[in-house]
Amino acid sequence: MSKYYSGTVAQLESIVAKAVSQKRFEHILRVRDYAIVLSKKYNVNSDQAEVAALVHDYAKDRSDSDFLNVIDAKHLDPDLKNWNNAIWHGVVGAEMIHDELGITDSEILDAVRQHTTGSDNMSLLSQILFMADYLEMGRHFPGVEEARALTDNNLQSGVKYQITHTLAYLASQSLPIHPLSLTTYNYWVKHA
Ligand SMILES: [Fe+2]
Ligand SMILES: [Fe+2]
Repeated sequence: MSKYYSGTVAQLESIVAKAVSQKRFEHILRVRDYAIVLSKKYNVNSDQAEVAALVHDYAKDRSDSDFLNVIDAKHLDPDLKNWNNAIWHGVVGAEMIHDELGITDSEILDAVRQHTTGSDNMSLLSQILFMADYLEMGRHFPGVEEARALTDNNLQSGVKYQITHTLAYLASQSLPIHPLSLTTYNYWVKHA
């Protein structure tokens, strides 16, 4: 029995495995491994980090209409409808994780909500999930080794590195930037 889930971690794993593609499940397991390492380094409960990582992309393979229905049913910010799966699977996904998986730990749910955009109000757990998702051993982008070393040395420096590089990439591709990503950038550029 997990403190953060009503069953065992193995049971949670098998539920998540059925909710996502095989490729995504393998990513989730690598995020779990990375999150556990970071949690030990930064004195965060490893069981909590493990459950947060296992559920973080639980909703990623859901249909747009599933997300739109939850936005209506739960009276979430209507502006969410102007975004897409990249934003929904965190913010709206947290509601599904609560309702469908019975996860009630508010730090885990917030870490899931914040894992794509970051935030100006991230717990250590949120920072760990944000970085583990970015740095898991299946990631091979230019700079990943530098980002891993920075994060190993100082978690906050890692958060700053990620948000800076993600924004630069989005702007270079003329892609839209969610306002919360800008908030995250403006906070971390001064605080890390
Ligand atoms: Fe994700
Ligand atoms: Fe992910």
